[in-house]
Amino acid sequence: MKKLIGPIRQVLTLDQLPLKGALRDEQLEIVSQAGILVEGAHIVKVGSWAELKQEFPEVEIHELDGDYVALPGMVDCHTHLCFGGSRARDFAMRNAGKTYLEIAQAGGGIWDTVTQTRSLDQETLADITAKHANRLLSEGVTSIEVKSGYGLSVAEELKLLRGIQQAASGTAADLISTCLAAHLCPKDWKGSPAQYLNEIASQLFPVLKAENLCTRIDAFVEKSAFSPEEITPYLEKASQLGFDLTIHADQFSCGGSQVAVALGARSADHLEASGETEIQALAQSSTVAVALPGASIGLGMAFTPARKLLDQDASLAIASDWNPGSAPMGDLLTQAAILATFEKLSTAEVLAGITFRAAAALGLTDRGKLTTGQLADFILFPTADYREILYQQGKMKPVEVWKKGENVLSTRY
Ligand code: NIG
Ligand code: FE
Repeated sequence: MKKLIGPIRQVLTLDQLPLKGALRDEQLEIVSQAGILVEGAHIVKVGSWAELKQEFPEVEIHELDGDYVALPGMVDCHTHLCFGGSRARDFAMRNAGKTYLEIAQAGGGIWDTVTQTRSLDQETLADITAKHANRLLSEGVTSIEVKSGYGLSVAEELKLLRGIQQAASGTAADLISTCLAAHLCPKDWKGSPAQYLNEIASQLFPVLKAENLCTRIDAFVEKSAFSPEEITPYLEKASQLGFDLTIHADQFSCGGSQVAVALGARSADHLEASGETEIQALAQSSTVAVALPGASIGLGMAFTPARKLLDQDASLAIASDWNPGSAPMGDLLTQAAILATFEKLSTAEVLAGITFRAAAALGLTDRGKLTTGQLADFILFPTADYREILYQQGKMKPVEVWKKGENVLSTRY
């Protein structure tokens, strides 16, 4: 049976907005006094409340009173939700002025999380992942990418990816998993980085396919992780097997974004260190540039040059990077609002970056806009003016979350 939700003061459909380039707020389509008609998991029509009620008299009505703004459910296209333990010590040491090396010598850094994550079983990791995902869902994020990358061996990466798959039954959000076995060459690996990557490609990739565990491969291209030369053959193998690629690129030093563009990756994420050459190459490609303001805030570093990327015609998505090390906050809306202030992004650019452009970074075209045929994933904010949402810098949370045509959260009363 069809359901009609409304009346809604403003529905921001994001219809007609392009995948790439700068956007002006005048380009936002706003349907006033609107209804959203859904059937099953999909949107049938967005239009005038009065007209929809007349045209579809037989539908189930979900009637709202008061002022609401509807946005597409947010898409967080880059997270590391599946982890054990905390890195509060690293955070405190970093803020107290300790260097990366001093923190590593004290037992901190990514390897610390690997150790803490390895000590947990699959069920526990599934529970943790679902709990994190449900927090994001309650904040309006209806599709969430989740990376492995704290296992760093064939068996441990499998445990994480199976845990992420298991977590999907503990949340109404869609989880899109990504294998990040190439996060770091593990400390306990007895060979070269190239040999580690060979082992992963030959022993893990076939199992990912056989068990349908993920369709995406990620790698951290950085001086402290893998060089462009080391990672290229690994990613080429992944690509040949039909995996989509995404890369942790240009976080502290450049190189990763060039690999991403050369190999046609879906996205290049971080980009805090990208210069003119990198920005231009990304802008001329179909690779989505993903800004991770949560990592800039967590590490006290520069933001991704989002304004420049958009002005040169790149596609820009924004993601939380929620992880225990560099981005412990995990609040996409707050971080996107802060990035907007520092990078001078229009509301349209921010909303596109956390919805359909983020979906594009995941290769998904069925979500991120409120138009006929799209998934009925949408969120309602308690305001009559959409501009209030970013103005309140993440403090205004959605009071209703709809996922695939179902009302999965309501705090309206
Ligand atoms: O995206 N840059 C590499 N990986 C993560 C950090 C992971 C961690 O510190 O645990 C990131 O920021
Ligand atoms: Fe990351």
